[in-house]
Amino acid sequence: MKTKQKFTIECEAIKFDMINVPYKKYHNFLQVKHQKWDIKNFKVPGFPFYLQIEPTNMCNLSCPLCPRGMELLNRKQMHMRYKDFKIIVDDMDEYILLIKLFDKGEPFLNPELPDMIQYASERGIKTVTSTNAHFLLNNKYVSRILKSGLSALIISIDSLKKDIYEKYRIGGSLDKALLGLKNVIRLKRELKVNTLINLRMLANRYNETEIKDMIKFSRSVGVDIFSVKNLNPSCGLSDFDKEFIPNNPIYRRYKYKKNTFERIQENSYCDKIWYTCEIHSNGDVVPCCEDYNGELKFGNVYEKPLSEIWNSQTTYDLRKRLFLRKDSNSICKKCYTSFKHSNLGSIIEYYDFTIPEIITNLKKILFITKRFIYNMQLYPLILEKVKKFNFLEEIVHKIIK
Ligand SMILES: C[S@@+](CC[C@H](N)C(=O)[O-])C[C@H]1O[C@@H](n2cnc3c(N)ncnc32)[C@H](O)[C@@H]1O
Ligand code: SF4
Repeated sequence: MKTKQKFTIECEAIKFDMINVPYKKYHNFLQVKHQKWDIKNFKVPGFPFYLQIEPTNMCNLSCPLCPRGMELLNRKQMHMRYKDFKIIVDDMDEYILLIKLFDKGEPFLNPELPDMIQYASERGIKTVTSTNAHFLLNNKYVSRILKSGLSALIISIDSLKKDIYEKYRIGGSLDKALLGLKNVIRLKRELKVNTLINLRMLANRYNETEIKDMIKFSRSVGVDIFSVKNLNPSCGLSDFDKEFIPNNPIYRRYKYKKNTFERIQENSYCDKIWYTCEIHSNGDVVPCCEDYNGELKFGNVYEKPLSEIWNSQTTYDLRKRLFLRKDSNSICKKCYTSFKHSNLGSIIEYYDFTIPEIITNLKKILFITKRFIYNMQLYPLILEKVKKFNFLEEIVHKIIK
């Protein structure tokens, strides 16, 4: 039995349309998304509706603010095997709507990635992966990826200038990345597949003035989406705000004390472990991508199915620990839940070229308005003003949230 209800879920700012979802899966999604936190037993009334799975933790580049690039990973370097991926999907496919198939490492290094995507697609699960664009000239492999039913492909290219590109993508070649990007677009057209191609730029001190050129380039080259992500200026225990964050405060992830690079502390709750989790290439289950060495590991899917791990006392205890923020573990202390944000999310610019330009422009105006309301902390004030008019309150909620 399938629900007639169409809905979308958002991941990396990309909206994934959910159509003809089996009723059980839809019910799980509603139960988990709208759950009231059980702060007595720390149980969740269902299973994760989305998962992040790391196809590999190996990489060909050495990006200076990525724990993989900085060699901070103390886990064994390995690809996840297709047979292990299948076991995870078989265990969870009644609940999972989407799999984010990347974390610390370059997914295109795993020769079994196309099989993994295909297996998930055949079970009605949407998939998104991200690549540093260095393996996009292998026509056979890329065609397999595109034909596997992949929903969205994020391609990380941060600049069109060689010297600036190489400041972040250390060991990379801009020429190779650009040729690869063009090759994917050509193959996508030839194969007539629907994979959304999202060119993604990571904004930093060196490339922030290039955003307009990147938008123009993206439109001309034929990608479906162009987006700009703000940089996480922490890597492991070190902070790099001073060296890397953009000069323009709009492109920064955090707010800073006046005329300093000192972030403003602000503890907010983390809701991730209430609806999702991440699985490392070695099978370890962790709460999120910040935990790149598995310090908060709460199980291993090669030893026990995720469905059992999710409903175990270890998981309830970790949920409680994160909720109470009793122990100040170094991972949560460094993550975005601990600082005042300068934006509504990590994606700070987003252009969808598959929709008419006028709608893109209207969306942009809405986004700027939202950012203004957020930055000026006007949200409570507006809600107060419209409180008397039920319908207006609902509209304001819809627009701002
Ligand atoms: C860790 S990478 C793994 C996938 C692939 N290797 C790539 O670079 O696209 C996943 C995403 O994180 C982004 N990224 C890298 N360093 C980052 C940082 N310091 N802050 C925020 N995002 C970062 C990458 O640009 C990419 O979009
Ligand atoms: S290419 Fe991706 S995984 Fe590799 S070092 Fe850079 S950001 Fe990290």
